[in-house]
Amino acid sequence: MHGMEAGTAERYRAFAGSELRGISPVYERLCLWVAASPALIGFLETLPRPKRQPNLFLAALRQVAGLPESAAALEAAVARRGDEIGALMLARRTQTNEPGRCAVLLPVLAALPGPLALIEVGASAGLCLLPERYGYRYGGHRLGAGPPVFPCDASPETPLPRALPEIAWRAGLDLAPVDPRDPEAAAWLEALVWPEETGRRDRLRAALDLARAAPPRVVAGDLTGDLAALAAEARAAAPAARLVVFHTAVLAYVEDQAARDAFAAHVAALGAVWIANESPRVYPEIAARAPPAPGPGWFLLSVDGRPRAWTRPHGQAIRWIG
Ligand SMILES: C[S@@+](CC[C@H](N)C(=O)[O-])C[C@H]1O[C@@H](n2cnc3c(N)ncnc32)[C@H](O)[C@@H]1O
Repeated sequence: MHGMEAGTAERYRAFAGSELRGISPVYERLCLWVAASPALIGFLETLPRPKRQPNLFLAALRQVAGLPESAAALEAAVARRGDEIGALMLARRTQTNEPGRCAVLLPVLAALPGPLALIEVGASAGLCLLPERYGYRYGGHRLGAGPPVFPCDASPETPLPRALPEIAWRAGLDLAPVDPRDPEAAAWLEALVWPEETGRRDRLRAALDLARAAPPRVVAGDLTGDLAALAAEARAAAPAARLVVFHTAVLAYVEDQAARDAFAAHVAALGAVWIANESPRVYPEIAARAPPAPGPGWFLLSVDGRPRAWTRPHGQAIRWIG
């Protein structure tokens, strides 16, 4: 086994341990089978490195061949239908659009004096651009209407929002915007939801229904070069609004740390509030100023580079940083 193989196997093993354990036993098992199989690692390594992601493989496998129930069945499925699985992985991206992340963004958004002009970079179908259209349940504290209603386990220090933010203007930016009205694109978003997470799937469906009724605008472009034009548009359309640039589960796709740092500097130069909800590995300098994460796989929510909370990656929980 050469170096890259060890890297891919380790990636699948780590993903099983940090993201899937306790949430998706079916995917956890599949990832561990992948990690232990030179044939499956060999298959993945025929693909470009960014296309070897566990979530991408699992969603494509599920769409093409269902969910194999043993390591041998998984190897057989990939041996038989690897071409189709690989083609789907090349054609699609992990554009998992998780509107539940609005539940962890909301304590920050609602605390900003509004109205707000929201720009989401890496918006996918733009479902996180619609925070005021959803309902939320933070234990006994409820807010908004829905469906969908997003449950979120909040630590006692979390400043729970009393009102939904007023949004004067909104738009997303994405390398490949997803149109919620396109049935194939919506089916792929659903395939990206892990199999046991039926509640999450139902909430995604409800959010897609809301988005179809009045789709948020998501512009095709790269966050590393195309933000200024959108910010200028926001300023012109809503001059009195506070400009907010946010992203969740996106900056990890920008592999170069210097490019991530340049993006952060660019947002600051635009005079926008910068909300990042990302793996702590994305901005290590911000993570170094935060207390230890409650466990593996948590995201760090920061505002203008200041750590504000640890959050579960799909918005299931928030632990405020005092
Ligand atoms: C995992 S999805 C997250 C979607 C959404 N932010 C959410 O939390 O539900 C990542 C998205 O970022 C987009 N993306 C990745 N790199 C990008 C870049 N350099 N510029 C713009 N969008 C990018 C992808 O196309 C994808 O739609």
